[in-house]
Amino acid sequence: MPRPGVLITRTIPASVIDRLQAACDIDLYSGPTAIPPDELKARLAGKQALMCLLTDRIDAAVLDAGRGLRIVANIAVGFDNIDRAAAQARRIVVTNTPDVLTEATADLTWGLILSITRRIPEGERMVRRGEWKGWALDFLLGSDLRGKQLGVVGFGRIGQRVAARAGAFGMNVVYTTLDADAPGDGAGVPGAVRVPFDRLLTTSDVISCHVPLTPETRHLFDGPAIGRMKRGAYLVNTSRGPVIDEAALAVALRERVIAGAALDVYEREPVIHADLYALENVVLAPHIGSATVETRTAMADLAARNVLAVLAGKPPITPVSP
Ligand code: DGY
Repeated sequence: MPRPGVLITRTIPASVIDRLQAACDIDLYSGPTAIPPDELKARLAGKQALMCLLTDRIDAAVLDAGRGLRIVANIAVGFDNIDRAAAQARRIVVTNTPDVLTEATADLTWGLILSITRRIPEGERMVRRGEWKGWALDFLLGSDLRGKQLGVVGFGRIGQRVAARAGAFGMNVVYTTLDADAPGDGAGVPGAVRVPFDRLLTTSDVISCHVPLTPETRHLFDGPAIGRMKRGAYLVNTSRGPVIDEAALAVALRERVIAGAALDVYEREPVIHADLYALENVVLAPHIGSATVETRTAMADLAARNVLAVLAGKPPITPVSP
């Protein structure tokens, strides 16, 4: 029997390739940036599985190019890059990589919170420019976290793990979730209190976004919502860029409507709203929430195990429902 073919759209760890190669023929795209859509379609011909990244747009046309496809395994927990309804209509399984990146992303979120509230990148830029004149009592003052309120928007796996770290910094936690059926107060994080979105907006000192990108969450933080935040508050986003209206955020930061923001994700990656580059009160990270050797290896490995399961006629390990 011929071995099934797997298209992988970007270089992944050799150990994961080895695992796949034991049962499949691999076609690896190893270009320096995302595979061009036409090449993606051409290389899908005759393949049974696709392992892709959040930078690959998997729509109906791509799925039609892969007529023999049985699984699309996204190497990411988010799957807004995939048209799940189109996949379901073609009986193609879609999987993601939950859990394995939760702790790394929660860690990075706290890195961003500390970076913006303590102005670490701003200070580092001054040092490199040779502008640091020495210690002074009023130099580069940030904000304490102790005694302040963290507002977590979206209380899934990552939101909860971010909230769980807040006690170490002396912060109390409120959270909101767009899912009416989500568990109530605490939800596994002692002391966390569920509040309506507007109350979280108007009372939190640091707001951290952990929602998937859906029609409901696109521009959840638009101009009016940002305008409801406390004047000294900070907005942090490690979820998906379009959750925040970048143009509105740039205006709010420039006019000091809020104190600052720290972003790991953007509306049109890798393009960033031009006005943000000039502002000192925003930290701009290059979508590295899950970027540790251990975590990225675990993500690729989980995607590969999903592929192997489905190609062997077994249920996927981490399917996403349409
Ligand atoms: C994801 O997995 O969705 C992240 O954005 C990348 O780690």
